[in-house]
Amino acid sequence: MSTIDEIKARIDIVDLVSEAGVKLRHAGKNYTGFCPFHDNKHTPAFVVWPESGTWRCFGQCNEGGDIFKFVMKREGIDFKEALAKLADRAGVKLESFVAERPEAREAHEHLRAVLEDAIVYYRTHLFNNKDVLTYLHEKRKLTDATIETFGLGYAPQGYENLLKNFTAKGYMEQDLIDAGLLSVREADTSTPGHSDTRIYDKFRNRIMIPIRDENGKMAGFGARIVDPNDVPKFLNSPETPIFTKGHILYGLDRARKPIRAADQAVIVEGYLDVIALHQAGYENVVSPMGTALTEDQLRLLKRSTRRIVLALDPDVAGQKAVLRGLDAARSAMDREGELGFDARGLLRNEARLQADLRVASMPDDLDPDEIVARDRDEWKRLIENAKPIVTHVMDSLAVGQNLNDAKVKNQIAAQVLPLIEDLPSPLERDTYRQALARMLRVDEGSLTSTLVQGVPVKRKPRGSGSSPQVQKMPVVALNPTLKIESYCIGALFRKPALLYRLDRKLQEFGLSALAVEDFEYTDHQLVFGVIRLAVEQDEKDHQHYLMSHLPETISSLSKDLLAETEQLDPVEDKLLDELLSRLLDLRRVYAMANINQLRFFQEEEQQQGGGNIKIYQEQAVQLTKLLNSLDQAKRKLSSKR
Ligand code: UTP
Ligand code: MN
Repeated sequence: MSTIDEIKARIDIVDLVSEAGVKLRHAGKNYTGFCPFHDNKHTPAFVVWPESGTWRCFGQCNEGGDIFKFVMKREGIDFKEALAKLADRAGVKLESFVAERPEAREAHEHLRAVLEDAIVYYRTHLFNNKDVLTYLHEKRKLTDATIETFGLGYAPQGYENLLKNFTAKGYMEQDLIDAGLLSVREADTSTPGHSDTRIYDKFRNRIMIPIRDENGKMAGFGARIVDPNDVPKFLNSPETPIFTKGHILYGLDRARKPIRAADQAVIVEGYLDVIALHQAGYENVVSPMGTALTEDQLRLLKRSTRRIVLALDPDVAGQKAVLRGLDAARSAMDREGELGFDARGLLRNEARLQADLRVASMPDDLDPDEIVARDRDEWKRLIENAKPIVTHVMDSLAVGQNLNDAKVKNQIAAQVLPLIEDLPSPLERDTYRQALARMLRVDEGSLTSTLVQGVPVKRKPRGSGSSPQVQKMPVVALNPTLKIESYCIGALFRKPALLYRLDRKLQEFGLSALAVEDFEYTDHQLVFGVIRLAVEQDEKDHQHYLMSHLPETISSLSKDLLAETEQLDPVEDKLLDELLSRLLDLRRVYAMANINQLRFFQEEEQQQGGGNIKIYQEQAVQLTKLLNSLDQAKRKLSSKR
């Protein structure tokens, strides 16, 4: 799901419009009120559809849109500003929209070049150090080919090796500091005379593991101790402009294709586990960098697959971590050196990103690298047997417990129920409640009753919380029209030239050419506008035109658009028919919604003797004609297929 879609999913349009001072009244599935954009205060002509997150004025304005359009119109701001506002309200980070400025990009390229040189430097030292090499070969069972592939190296003992070597080669100290290779100890200004600032090698006597971003661009290093007495065990590059731990997954540059091929990604905890698994032929494996898994990281994976397995250490995956995950504040989980298994956080992400997250726990106190070393096939079995998060939590809480003890039952229920009640899907909630009841051998009814003490099992009714913090939580499932729109925009984005053929077909069916108004969501309208321009300018390289003309705020969306339409039919004629068919559906859905609304308004006007009845009737006639044409077109299309 794109960031923008996520904002749509998190913001309740009824709340948004109500807060803007529009009094809304429930009318069937919808809400109606007086249009805030024109001053006819006689009859309500303004409708909000909570399901699609859209609105329309059937009166004078005859205009509609989504949450973005509403805020844009209401506050007289542009899309970018509205996006920033609503992202803030939804608690969604927009960092990814900040495009790299050319100067910044150059600086980043330079930092990357410095790091690439450091790989060569550390590598030379590794091949000069027999002990470390032996450790990697014998203790870690890594082959030379693997060491080469992953660019492993060794940072020698001593404080000024890299410093001297690199400055002698002409590197500026500041660049080495910016790249995170040198550390600075600030001068002690409190004591006069002690003014020297010390600059020294950050990595000393450590195995160096280059960390690249998902595109294979160098980002930083992870560094493991050689001397078991040194601390910390792993030292990472500091956060630099090109190294943001929460945004990178180790190994993803190599794992991306295998993840696609397997339609599954596996997340382990350690760099060396990633390396060992790749060596063993399991290449769909990545790891975070000693920090809790972030939403950004899951999102990165989601571009390649929605099926994600977390392979967790037994102690982390076990009871202790589950309890911690439930009780501890999330911030505490983000400490370096702990992969947070925050069941609730993961479940939220799972729902929001529409991912399938599972947990595989490692047996016998073994790390993944030790498991593949022991028995290569065992890894496969463990991953195949990964369990959904809730099941995993239930099972790990039950290990070694006496399930006949009422106190134990109560405790386990108290841990698991809040997770279950938080799930957005009623079907899933029911299924897990039943599973929990079965496991605890209690009546399902007793789980939802007050028998479970101190557990808030009631779901908050929608819209009851007014603070944005509370509004962050509900997850509205993406509605069908949003999906159809995304598909159509995505397909046209990939193949803009299809637009000609599409328009011609629509014309043949007596329908109007595709237009911005066909789309309800502002971001889709913006993208479509640029696609239309690209095609009309007769640019040869449509893709290039699109990328350079999309608004900055949208260009990051394009990645998601491309990812979502990867499975397009390769036969162009079939794709065209598919696209056409979905567009007809889309027009039909919107026409139907509008007609129903118009009927409702007409009845109201009749009862109250309002003056708008003519406007409504005219609109309804037009829409009925449209519906007829759409149905005819659809019949022709399906008879052809
Ligand atoms: P582990 O201690 O499990 O390391 O930390 P490992 O990868 O299994 O290493 P070996 O097998 O003992 O050599 C798992 C991950 O947590 C992060 C690192 O990313 C590491 O790969 N970590 C660990 C830190 O960031 N800092 C630390 O001090 C320890
Ligand atoms: Mn390990």
